[in-house]
Parts: sequence; C-alpha cells; structure tokens
Amino acid sequence: MNLDLVEVRRDLHRHPELGRQERRTTAVLADHLAAAGLSPKVLAAGSGLVCDVGREGPLVALRADIDALPVQDEKDVPYRSTIDGVCHACGHDVHTAVVLGAGLELAQRQLPGRVRLIFQHAEEQMPGGALDVIEEGLLDGVSTIFAMHCDPSLEVGHIGLKAGPITAAADAVEVRLTGPGGHTSRPHNTVDLVHALATVATGLPDALSRLVDPRAGLCLVWGQVAAGNARNAIPREGVLTGTLRVLDKNAWQQAPELVERLVQGLVSPYGARAVVTYQRGVPPVVNEPAATALLGAAVRRALGSSALVATQQSLGGEDFAWYLDHVPGAMARLGVRPPGSERPMDLHQPTFDVDEGALRVGVDVLVAAALAAMGAA
Ligand code: NI
Repeated sequence: MNLDLVEVRRDLHRHPELGRQERRTTAVLADHLAAAGLSPKVLAAGSGLVCDVGREGPLVALRADIDALPVQDEKDVPYRSTIDGVCHACGHDVHTAVVLGAGLELAQRQLPGRVRLIFQHAEEQMPGGALDVIEEGLLDGVSTIFAMHCDPSLEVGHIGLKAGPITAAADAVEVRLTGPGGHTSRPHNTVDLVHALATVATGLPDALSRLVDPRAGLCLVWGQVAAGNARNAIPREGVLTGTLRVLDKNAWQQAPELVERLVQGLVSPYGARAVVTYQRGVPPVVNEPAATALLGAAVRRALGSSALVATQQSLGGEDFAWYLDHVPGAMARLGVRPPGSERPMDLHQPTFDVDEGALRVGVDVLVAAALAAMGAA
C-alpha cells in the first residue's frame, strides 16, 4: 500500500464535517478507493460509502464512522481543524483511515471471500447513520462485522476487548411543563411551575434509582434546565433536557414508559401539564462471544499476546450497536495514548488527539480479523 495513512488522517482532521454533511470526506475516500481499482458506492443518504473488496465467498464487514463533532479544535498542531466549531474530537478520522488502510491492504491479496468496507455517516446523531446503512440492505449476507473505537485511556499498541456489552444505551429525554403562570406571592392560585420543574429534575432520577434494578446501571443526568425570566413572576413554561444512559438492554427497553409514568406522577399534585419527549438513541453494543474471540485471536496474531487487554463496559453510546442487532460481530478499543503520557485525555475534549502509531496497529488488527473471519487464517 503506497498511501500514507498519517497524511490521510491529517487531511480528514483538517477538514471535519458534521453528520449528514460529510461530502468532502466521502469524496476523498471514494478517490482513494477508486485509485486502488475498487468501486466504492455512495450511500443513499448522500454521504458515507461502501466498497467491496474481493470475490465470492464469506462476506465480512469492517465499519468506520466518518463524522465529526460540533466542538472547537483547541489543539496547536499543523493539522488542526480548519472548520470553525467542528473537530474530529472522537477519533472518527482515525477509524476512517484505519478501515481505508485495511481495505487497501486486503485488496492486494487473494482473498477467500469478500470484505465490505462501510464508511458510515452521522454516528454522532440521533437517529444515527447505522440505521440508514441497515435499511439500505448493506448488511444482507454479512457473516461478521468488526469495528474499532479510539480509547485514550489505553496506550498505543494495546487493544481493549470484552465479550458482551461494551458500551451503554443512550437516549435523549426532554420534559416540558406548562401552567397558567402568575405572581410569586400567590403560588396557591396557579401552578408553581419552577417548583414542579425542580421536583421532576431531582425526583425523576431518584425514583428511577429505586424502580430499576441497580445492576442495570441506569443514569439520567440533566444537561439543561430553563424556566422564567423574572424573580417575581411564575413562568408559564419550563423545560428539562438530558440523557438517559443504561448498561442493560432490558432496562433500556422499559425506560420510556417508566419515565413517562414517573413524570406524570411527580407533577400531578401541582397541576402542571407535562409533555415528555423520549428519543430513542442507541442500545448497548453487545459483542458476540465467537466474533470477540476471533477478534482477540487476530490481535494476538498481529501484535503479540501482551497487546490484548481486558476492558470495561462504558456509559458512552455508539450506533455500531444497531449492526450487532442484525449480525454477529465485535467492537474493540484501539489504544491511542502516547506511551508514558500522564496528560488527562478524553474523547470529545477540544484538545483530544491520538498517537498516530495507532493507525498501523488498527490496520494490522482489522486485516488479521477479516482474514480469520473469511477462514483464511
Ligand atoms: Ni465516537
């Protein structure tokens, strides 16, 4: 492979695009794939693409997400974002370069099957681009699917893996209360909307903690509370928005109904009208045991056994989960922390960056995993 993956990653990093707007990214990837003699196809959504490598035989998919975040890039590096307020702060530029690199390397081999490269748009959005890819039928015939996500808690050269759930479900919750409004001297004559809103703000997470099995790890956290604009006027409207995250799939399935019932119960003594808008995000990514074992064996073969480390389920959400609802597969964590670095690093930070040695590591692992899943190894 003649392509310099560090340059590819830096180019994507300089030109990040938000979900469903990834036109340049899509065009750049299509050019690289076409230059290697492959035939990429842009997704019906208009951004994102798929490209098959190889011939008939078992079909294995490698998935990357290509979108960036609405975060200002605060790094001082030559490849910092050139787009104001948009940054690859979740490492999707790395995932994209890794799957591209793996695909181009596989294209140079005689394969006992086919590999489908999926460069998926809009992972960060709700609903995410994974649902579009599935609806387009692009998982049909896929026997196994693999993906990687950057992990800044792991040193470069290491891969974190676990069977079973590895990320959490993440949904969006909005509670909007309305009442007649009034004078703060006479709350008994109206609906004290701010009080009712505060009751929901603290009471709903409390009640959930007692009505859902604690082992499900359900956590509702508000990110926004808004009501009123005068100290002596009771407002007519107030709103809370937040995310509900949960480790367990059953608890996730029951959450919308429970939230609705609890909100209505909490506000009813005060007479406020409550409208709950519950937006389903993603279920947990549940790594299938056999695919996880195959990916783990590929890590050992590609990098040596010390490279493979155990990892824990996180409360992050990831729309790769939808693929695993349809076909077996596994997601690994790709170590991106520079060796010896003690600097605090996290995903979605304006200063998030990676040790680019992770690109080679990711390619080697995905190539080995795809070959093994096609029965070549
Ligand atoms: Ni991400």
